Amino acid sequence: MVGRSKVTIVGAGNVGATAAHWIASKELADVVLVDIVEGIPQGKALDLSQAAPIDGFDVKIVGSNNYEATANSDIAIITAGQPRKPGMSRDDLLKINAEIVGQVIDQIVKYSPNCFIIVVSNPLDAMAQLAFRRSGFPKNRVMGMAGVLDSARMRHFIAEELNVSVENVTAFVLGGHGDTMVPLPRYSTVAGIPVTELIPKERLDEIVKRTANGGAEIVNLLKTGSAYYAPSLAAVEMTEAILKDKKKILPCAVYLEGEYGINNLFVGVPVKLGKNGVEQIIEISLTNEERAALHKSAAAVQELVNILGI
Ligand code: NAI
Ligand code: 2OP
Repeated sequence: MVGRSKVTIVGAGNVGATAAHWIASKELADVVLVDIVEGIPQGKALDLSQAAPIDGFDVKIVGSNNYEATANSDIAIITAGQPRKPGMSRDDLLKINAEIVGQVIDQIVKYSPNCFIIVVSNPLDAMAQLAFRRSGFPKNRVMGMAGVLDSARMRHFIAEELNVSVENVTAFVLGGHGDTMVPLPRYSTVAGIPVTELIPKERLDEIVKRTANGGAEIVNLLKTGSAYYAPSLAAVEMTEAILKDKKKILPCAVYLEGEYGINNLFVGVPVKLGKNGVEQIIEISLTNEERAALHKSAAAVQELVNILGI
């Protein structure tokens, strides 16, 4: 019998602990939660473990302040860092989180040299690039979560607008995870029907704007932190696609080497996720306007990457 998969989640805060919850309730893998704050990962792991008899999931959940317990993980989800506070841009977090993510990656590489890394910490694309450079892992094993979340937000807004099931709605968001992200109504559908045929342009423009502002909208409501239910589930969808070799097409931040005319940079594009991680980068045709928007978004990521010198 093949043993259960093992997922390490670094950062036992809102996103990390909620990701552990989703993974456990889906019975996807054993989970090791790591955080620097003493007691928090242990307490949350114990609490979640005590939910197991009620929900009926048989996975092992362990909390720790060091990395020994993470050894030989299949996937490491990196959520360590500080979240955005009101008035704080994702980019304000750059230097604080670069320091944190760099240290975390060193430990992940030491204990799980063959794992896949899914970065969640912000600013997302720059942190994914940092994880890639620092780990020395091949590009199929390092990816950032943003597009799954951003497109889920757009799907929710479209479903709400048309009063249809979210299951009927697909949506496409490319680019960096920031104000310059590129939601693509032309590739968004309801039961296969392009949304451009169902929603008037003015309303679609509003949905596009609200999607790009989706993170800030929640920060402004919560006041003490940022979104975590949808972000954690988005990271878990990527995890599941890899662990179950689903060959699922999902928008993820990945290292581009010429695709879409972008070089040596992490930017969100559609990819195929399976047992080898990022198995294919899918290039879709873009109008001149869409391409220009994607390049503008990539330029914003490049700026941060330049500041970090990575
Ligand atoms: P949180 O503050 O609830 O949790 C972060 C955790 O990281 C804290 O428990 C903290 O103690 C821990 N931490 C800090 N330094 C650490 C270190 N060196 N090693 C281990 N753990 C460490 O924040 P939340 O809401 O969970 O967000 C986490 C990160 O994810 C933030 O950077 C946030 O901006 C980002 N995020 C990204 C999204 C995306 O779409 N990519 C969506 C939502 C959040
Ligand atoms: C979000 O989009 C803060 O990046 C985070 O919710």
